[in-house]
Formats: sequence, structure tokens, C-alpha cells
Amino acid sequence: MEVVHTIPELRAAVARARQAGRTIGFVPTMGCLHEGHLALIRRAKAETGYVVVSIFVNPTQFGPNEDFAKYPRTLANDVAGSATAGADLVFAPATEDFYAPGASTWVEETFVSEGLCGEFRPGHFRGVTTVVAMLFNAVQPDVAVFGRKDLQQLAALRRMVRDLLFPLRIIAHETVREANGVAMSSRNRYLSPADFAKATAIPAALAVAQALVAAGERDAGRVRSAALARLAAEPALRPQYCQVVDAETLRPVDQVTPGRTVLAVAGHLGATRLIDNADLG
Ligand code: PAF
Repeated sequence: MEVVHTIPELRAAVARARQAGRTIGFVPTMGCLHEGHLALIRRAKAETGYVVVSIFVNPTQFGPNEDFAKYPRTLANDVAGSATAGADLVFAPATEDFYAPGASTWVEETFVSEGLCGEFRPGHFRGVTTVVAMLFNAVQPDVAVFGRKDLQQLAALRRMVRDLLFPLRIIAHETVREANGVAMSSRNRYLSPADFAKATAIPAALAVAQALVAAGERDAGRVRSAALARLAAEPALRPQYCQVVDAETLRPVDQVTPGRTVLAVAGHLGATRLIDNADLG
């Protein structure tokens, strides 16, 4: 596996792979790779012949009071993990080499990026769509793989690809969970062992909602109340939102339509913000 840091090196490596007749898979990451990322890399490898992993902590998707400065940077581990999972190339640019000086162009999705996390993290999805558009232009993959845990990010990127005619296919990979059910996230490492145990209130709330729907409940308000009650049973957890939404538009719904409705949750444990979601039905 090769590691490159500049766009010309990246383009040359991808061009060689294409000349050799390989299709290009892409897994964009901010590093601090965990088993969830490795599953995305393995999925990309199963779907394509040559897998590029980007490792870039993107400053434009962090708010002024968020954790950009302290976001974990673990390049050596990430390179080793990527290689083990089957990546062919790691692209790890320096911030100043990736964004042009004085960059003044944004890519902004304006429908599904509203609400949910968008309400609490202004500018976040604009930063994500901009950097992923740049990465897509740099890598020019045939397939890009993202995790379902980041429900709203996935929806915004799907729309961006559709609306701006990016010639690639997005694959959504299921959320990978810790043994205790908590969705894997680079931010889990901020949690103390006690808080990590308390974070199980989130998957537990999702499970309560799923069980209600499986038992025939279709009233979204009642499903949401049951999930909120389960979250409230963990006093350390401060829910930010808990919404029953349409799986495609991410707008809140009154009725659950099995297969087309998702429960999306965000909350804080101490200073750590966690998100998760589950299909209802
Ligand atoms: O999901 C992430 O890690 C990031 O939002 C992404 C897609 C790599 C863009 O910086």
C-alpha cells in the first residue's frame, strides 16, 4: 500500500490503477480509524479493484467551539489499519496543500442538511459537502463508501452526487457497533469508561422504538416519547434531538411507515456529542 500527501501524487497513482484496468473505490475519513472505518474499506475492496482512503481532518466542517484542534490525529495507526483492511492508497494531505489559499467556493446542499444536526451545527454540512466534492474531484472514484451512522451526511452527499452529476455510486454501509451496542465513532475515545457504559442509553432508546413499531405502533409521537423516556432514564445523557423522520427527506413525520422511517438521536455525555439512528420497521 502506498501513502501520498499531494494531489499530483494521488492523481498519478489513481491513473496507474485505471490504466491497469482497476475500478476505483474511495473511503473518505478524518482518520482515527476504528473498526467501523475498516468495515467501509473492506466493503470498498469487495466492490472495486483499487481502494483509496483519505485521511484529512477537515477544518471547514468544525464550528468555532467544536473539537477541531483536539480531534485525534493518529496517522501511523491509520495507515497500518488501512493496509490491513485492504486499501491500496492512503491520501493524507496537509490542510494548506488541500485548500487553495483564500479558497472562496462552497458546495452546499440546502434541503436534507436542514434540521437534525444541521440545526445545532451551522455550516457543518456545507463543510462536509465542500470537502467531499473536492475529494471526489481529486480521486475521481467509481464508488464511494459511507457509514449509515452519519445519516444526514449520507443524505446530503447522495443529493450532492445526484444534483451535481458526480459520475460515481455511493454505497451506504451499515453502522458498526461496539460490543455494548454503542455505534462506533472516533469521538467514543473521549468518553470515560463510565460514560461509555452510559452511552448505551442511545442504542437502548432506538431498540425501544423499534420494538414498539414491531408490535404495530404507527404513531410517530408515541414512538418518539417512548425513545425519549428511555434516554431520560440515563440522567447523565443530555439529548439534543430525538426525531422520527422520513428516511429520504429527513423531515419529521406523524406516522411511521415501516421501511421508510428512521429514528435519529443526538445527545451529549459530558462534552462528547454522540449521534445514532435506526430504521423503524
Ligand atoms: O465522516 C467523516 O469522517 C467526514 O465527515 C468526511 C466524510 C470524511 C468529510 O470530512
